[in-house]
Parts: sequence; structure tokens; C-alpha cells
Amino acid sequence: MVEIIRAENYEELGRIAGEQILRQVEEKRDSVLGLATGGTPRGIYRYLAEKKPDLSRVRTVNLDEYLGLSGGDPRSYHYYMKEYVWEPLEIGRENRLIPDGLCPDAEEECRRYEEQIRVLGGIDLQLLGLGENGHIGFNEPGPAFVCDTHKVCLSPETRAANSRFFGSPEEVPRYALTMGIRTIMRARRILLVVSGGKKAKALQALMGGGVTPQIPVTILLLHPRVTVAADAAALGGKF
Ligand code: GLP
Repeated sequence: MVEIIRAENYEELGRIAGEQILRQVEEKRDSVLGLATGGTPRGIYRYLAEKKPDLSRVRTVNLDEYLGLSGGDPRSYHYYMKEYVWEPLEIGRENRLIPDGLCPDAEEECRRYEEQIRVLGGIDLQLLGLGENGHIGFNEPGPAFVCDTHKVCLSPETRAANSRFFGSPEEVPRYALTMGIRTIMRARRILLVVSGGKKAKALQALMGGGVTPQIPVTILLLHPRVTVAADAAALGGKF
């Protein structure tokens, strides 16, 4: 079942999604939160930082990471997390999980990551952003869904879309590690946040009703508990 919540704008989206996360943590203090990076969730993390909730027992698990970037590189998702989530929200070091962008063996790192999530008891709430091409995490459009955490070759569209965080598309790493579709779908709840007109087409595909690996987000139609929080621009006049 997909529940849709409409936000007027980006700021309201941050508040609405932030409240959903706060409610989750109130219900279960030691929640495992699957977290996303990128521009859309920034407003949520800002809202949470203002609220200063007690997240001392929360464990965080990240969706993805670029291969080849160290955690100290400001363009890595590790760095993003430290800057906007782990430190401002005081998440203990022992409660932070993210794939290692400098791992010597990607396959081994993916296996290790899946196992770490399993040991945590799975993800209670998975926050997702949406790629312009319909990707979730870094699960790119393709002929089939990839189940587990894996190494992915980023599409030219994704590298172009993410080049705003780098100097140019060429500087965006070619490869990344990402949770797989099954890893994401095993989360007990999913919160997809969508902002801006550039995402309207991908969001429309989700609401259109058909599941296809060519638009990975459509898999969420098969999840029993999905909330989509989207702003007016992303909804494009719908709802
Ligand atoms: C990246 C991330 C995704 C994210 C997407 C959208 O590709 N790997 O997890 O959802 O960008 O990001 P933004 O919110 O910046 O548009």
C-alpha cells in the first residue's frame, strides 16, 4: 500500500518526513534507520537537528557509497553523513554503518554489508530519495532487479545529475556500492521523499501502477508499507 503525503514545498517536506522519523524513534528507541544522502534529505536532517531528539540508541545504515572515495573526501557519502547526520544528531560511532568506498574487494564488502544489516535485525524504516531516472539507492534502470548489495556502474544520466556535487560529470566516480532491491524491500517501512519537477516523471511512473526494472522505484508497489512524501513540484499538480 502506498500512502501519499503532499508537501507544499521543500521546507514542508523536510518537516513532514522528519516527523515520520521522529515518530518511528518514539515507537522504538533502538530503531534501525536506513538513511539516504543527496539534496532531498538535507531538509529532513536540518529539521531533526533543530528538534534535537534523543537518538542515542538508534542505529543508522546507509543506502550506498561511491567506490574510490575515502570517508574523508567531502564528496563521499561518508563525509555527508558525518557533516549532516552523525555529528549533528549525535549518532555514536558504533551505530554508523556505511559501505567502505575504499574497500579492496567490492564483492567481499557487499557480502559483509548484507551480513551487518542482518545482524542488526533488519531495517525498521528505510528513507529513500529518487533519482531522475527512477533509481533508488544506486539501483539503476536495467533489464532485471538486482537483489543484494552490489557494485554498480553508474549510468551517464546519474553521473550528470550528481555532477553538481563534483566539478563535472567526468569527476563523478564510475562505480558505487548500493543496497540491492531485496535489501531495500526487506525494510519494515519505507519513506520515499521526492522534491522538484525533475522527479515528476519518475514519481508518475510509480503512481501509474506497473512494476518494471527499467524504473526501479516501481518495485515499491509490492511493499506493504510505503509512504511517499512529495512536494507540489514533484507531484506536478496531482493530488
Ligand atoms: C543519488 C543517490 C540516491 C538519491 C539520488 C537523488 O544518486 N544515490 O540515493 O536518492 O541521488 O538525490 P537528490 O535528492 O540529490 O536529487
